[in-house]
Amino acid sequence: MKLIFEKSMAGHRCTLLPACDVPEVELDSALLRESELPLPELSEQEISRHYTQLCRRVHGVNCGFYPLGSCTMKYNPRIDEEMAALPGFASVHPLAPEKATEGCREVLDVAAQYLCEITGMDGMTFQPAAGAHGEFTGVLLIKQYHRSRGDLGRTKIIVPDSAHGTNPATAAMCGFEVVNIASAPDGCVDLEALKAALGPDVAGLMLTNPNTVGLFDENILEITRLVHECGGLCYYDGANLNAVMGVVRPGDMGFDCIHMNLHKTFATPHGGGGPGAGAVGCKAFLKDFLPRSALMEGEGRLQVRSFAGNFLVVVRALTYLLTLGREGVPEAAINAVLNANYLMRKIRGSFTPAFDRTCMHEFVLDLSAFKKETGVSALDVAKSLIDRGMHPPTMYFPLIVHEALMLEPTETESRETLDEAAAIFRELYDLAFRDPEQMHTAPHNAQIGRPDEVKAARSPILRWTKE
Ligand SMILES: Cc1ncc(COP(=O)(O)O)c(C=O)c1O
Repeated sequence: MKLIFEKSMAGHRCTLLPACDVPEVELDSALLRESELPLPELSEQEISRHYTQLCRRVHGVNCGFYPLGSCTMKYNPRIDEEMAALPGFASVHPLAPEKATEGCREVLDVAAQYLCEITGMDGMTFQPAAGAHGEFTGVLLIKQYHRSRGDLGRTKIIVPDSAHGTNPATAAMCGFEVVNIASAPDGCVDLEALKAALGPDVAGLMLTNPNTVGLFDENILEITRLVHECGGLCYYDGANLNAVMGVVRPGDMGFDCIHMNLHKTFATPHGGGGPGAGAVGCKAFLKDFLPRSALMEGEGRLQVRSFAGNFLVVVRALTYLLTLGREGVPEAAINAVLNANYLMRKIRGSFTPAFDRTCMHEFVLDLSAFKKETGVSALDVAKSLIDRGMHPPTMYFPLIVHEALMLEPTETESRETLDEAAAIFRELYDLAFRDPEQMHTAPHNAQIGRPDEVKAARSPILRWTKE
């Protein structure tokens, strides 16, 4: 497909500027461009067709099933978009006077209040722009807490080996030494390994519960107690909050500080990398260390982003919360767990779950034995799903499961969709024994088959340059 610049035809236009209603001013020649701005020239219809063709090449939640584990790609109700598009929200200037932003402040205050209630926290900031950015902010809070008490010997953060890669990366970026602890055979925290890692040099523990294999750690109260007992704090990676929101609160599990991916759990599914909001909540004793924003009192505190963060993501989150209400929020979580267990049980007849027990909102398949038997890898299965109109699950994560496929169906999928997905998995399972080559070469119907993924990630070409 040609780029929009390559489609450009001199003289094609679709802009009709209104008549100038202010006196014309001659600009100083030093301010004028020396050459024309090389913008593509197209008619309205050409632009419309271009973007429609582009959007047909993308698989989004509105195109089909998108069980991308750990990403909570659920349907985003239209009303959330409508609210975020209201001119009073969408066009507000970050430097607008206080009087003109009362409504926006109220959105931030009410959203913070609801999210504190859901998480069991006492303070909240919306500054961080993503989950990883939230982790960074939260761990800096922990660092600042120890520092404020003159406790400077706490140099380590404990992270289980099932953690999302952003957890150890965050701890390292905040200047901590990362202590990795192995998971127990049941996929949860190994209490003995945790006890062995704890000591006066531990600043805290980073954990998600349910964890990245979709299991709720039943020892959570003991885990947070042990960390507190040695003087450390507990950080909750709330990326998996969709499984427990309104049912159980991280604050009650013993966590001191958390981030949520508003762009997963509370609308704005995070396809395409953003925009996001990694809201950070904390218990009262950490509140003073929260970043300040232009909309908050408290000069001189940490600031991790300009103004109030990605405000429109908060508008969507608040709309989502108000639409679901006190009963709807836990119901969504319960249905997310129900859907995951339903799909896991339907697929279990062919592919093997890594941990064969009741899961939370997602589950992981272990295809290592299947690969030995058929030569077909998790990647081959994922690519073959594309041909069948389904977005592949998350692959090769978490690292503790080899040949992993991680599925998170979310609560917004119907039973029919889950049945169809299970039938596709069954079909692929059989195909792997019958015609593995067809799977090694999949996808056959997609625009892009098997790109060099390392090159695409490390040296992406994101800019068009005129020859
Ligand atoms: C468990 C977990 N933690 C943290 C993150 C990081 O969130 P973000 O991608 O918004 O930076 C993710 C993202 O997928 C995640 O799944």
